[in-house]
Amino acid sequence: MPDLPPNNRQGLPPVMGTPSTGALPDSGAAPRTPTAAAAADLAAAPAQQGPALPPPRSAYVHIPFCHRRCFYCDFPVVPLGDRADGSGGSGAASIAAYLQLLHREIATAPPGPPLSTVYLGGGTPSMLCPDQVGALLKALDRRYGLAPGAELTLEMDPASFDQARLAGYLAAGINRVSLGGQSFDDSVLASLGRRHRLADLLQATGWLRRARARGELASWSLDLIQSLPGQGLSHWQRQLEAAIAQEPPHLSIYELSIEPGTVFERRLERGELELIDQDLAADLMELSQQRLGQAGYGHYEISNYARPGHASRHNRVYWSGAGWWGFGMGATAAPYGRRQARPRTREAYAAWLVARDHALPALAATEGAPEGSVGMAIDERWMVGLRRREGVNAVALARAAGLGHQQLAALRQELAPFEERGLLLVEGERWRLSDPAGLALSNAVLRELLAWWPAEPAAGH
Ligand SMILES: C[S@@+](CC[C@H](N)C(=O)[O-])C[C@H]1O[C@@H](n2cnc3c(N)ncnc32)[C@H](O)[C@@H]1O
Ligand code: SF4
Repeated sequence: MPDLPPNNRQGLPPVMGTPSTGALPDSGAAPRTPTAAAAADLAAAPAQQGPALPPPRSAYVHIPFCHRRCFYCDFPVVPLGDRADGSGGSGAASIAAYLQLLHREIATAPPGPPLSTVYLGGGTPSMLCPDQVGALLKALDRRYGLAPGAELTLEMDPASFDQARLAGYLAAGINRVSLGGQSFDDSVLASLGRRHRLADLLQATGWLRRARARGELASWSLDLIQSLPGQGLSHWQRQLEAAIAQEPPHLSIYELSIEPGTVFERRLERGELELIDQDLAADLMELSQQRLGQAGYGHYEISNYARPGHASRHNRVYWSGAGWWGFGMGATAAPYGRRQARPRTREAYAAWLVARDHALPALAATEGAPEGSVGMAIDERWMVGLRRREGVNAVALARAAGLGHQQLAALRQELAPFEERGLLLVEGERWRLSDPAGLALSNAVLRELLAWWPAEPAAGH
C-alpha cells in the first residue's frame, strides 16, 4: 500500500507524517528514509500514469540548518548550536559550504519557465543572512526567472532573527513568511525542545504584523502543533485565541506525529509520553475549524486555514498535483510527476551532486523534456486531493487510471460505511471528506481506499 499523503509541513518537499496521516513527502523535503542509492535515482517512474503535466513553475529549496533538533522533529536538519549563524561565528563555514553546493545544483538544473512560487524551507532558513537569501533568489531568477508577483516564502523561527534581519529579507525579495510558533505556552515550548519562548514568539509576530500593515510583507503564516501530550480542549482553545490575537493571515495546524529516531519516539517507547486518543484529537480539530471559521479563516486543506486571498499558492501547487523543482539536501522534487528524493545528509548530497553532474545530459532529456505522458501517480492524486476541502473529481481520476463506472461504483460500495456516517460526501462526480468529521478521520478513509485501489484491474474499460 502506498504511503499516506503529505502532511504539507513545508512549502513543498521534505517528507513528514503523523500517526493519523502517515508519512509522505511534504511540501518539498525528501522521504524520511531514502537510501543513498534510491535518492540517486534521478527519474522515479510514476506508479500509474495520469495526464501529462506542464513544466514546474514552483521551486522548493531546503536549508537544513537549525540551532538544535526539536524533540519531535525528524526533518533532514543539521544542528549547529544555539549561537550559530550564517553571517559569521560558529557554523558560518558549514552554511557557506552548503550554499555552494546548492548554488551548483540550481545553476545546472534543467530549464523551465519562470517560477510563480518559491519556498525556502528548512530547517531554519532564518539562520541565513539576508545576502545569502537574496543570492538564492537571484540564482533561481537567473536559472528560471521569477514571474511578476511570484510568491516568495521564507520559513523563520522565532528567536532566530531580529527586526533588521526581517527588513533585510524583505528587501531581498521575500514577500511571505512562515513562522514556526508551535505553542503559546512556555512549558509546552520547553517540553518540545524548542529554543524560543512565548516572548520571542510575540515579538516576531509583532514585527510580521507591522511589516504587513506597512505593505512590506504580502502575507505570513503561523505554525502550531496540536494533540500534544496531555492537551485538552481548554488548553487548545487558549492556543487558538492566542493565535487569532496575533492576526496571522494564514495558519498551519499540524497534529503531533511521533517520528522514528526522535526523542519523542524514545520517550513513548519508555512509557514517558502519553499521547491523546483519536477522539480527542478529532474534537481538537473540530474546535479549530469552528473557532477559526468564526474568526474568518477558511479551512482549505486538512492542516491549513487562511483568510480570504491568503491560501498558500505554493502549497496549492503541490496539492493540485502540478510538479515542482526541489533543491538541496533532503529535498524532494517532482517535475512532471517524477518524484526525486535527494539524500538526507550533506555528505551524501554532495556525492549525489557529483553523480548528477555526470548524468546531466541524460537528466536534461528526462527532466527537461520528458517523453511520454507522466503525471502525479493516480493513487497519490486521490490522497492529496481528499485532504483538500474541495476533494477530487472521482470520475476523472478513475478514467485516468483506466477504470470504468462499474469499478468506481465498487469502490463507492467499499467506502459505503464512511458515506453512511457522513464522512465521505459524494456530490455528482466530486468526492470529498466532510469538514471537520471526515477530514479528522481522513486516514481511515484513505487506508480503505488505497487498500482497494491497486487490487483492481486498471485497463480495458
Ligand atoms: C520543517 S518545520 C520548519 C519550520 C521551522 N524550522 C520551525 O520549526 O519553526 C515545519 C513545521 O513542521 C511542523 N512539524 C515538524 N515536525 C512535526 C511533528 N513531528 N509533528 C507535528 N508537526 C511537526 C512544525 O509545526 C514546524 O513548524
Ligand atoms: S527548528 Fe524546525 S526544522 Fe529545526 S528541528 Fe525544530 S521543528 Fe525541525
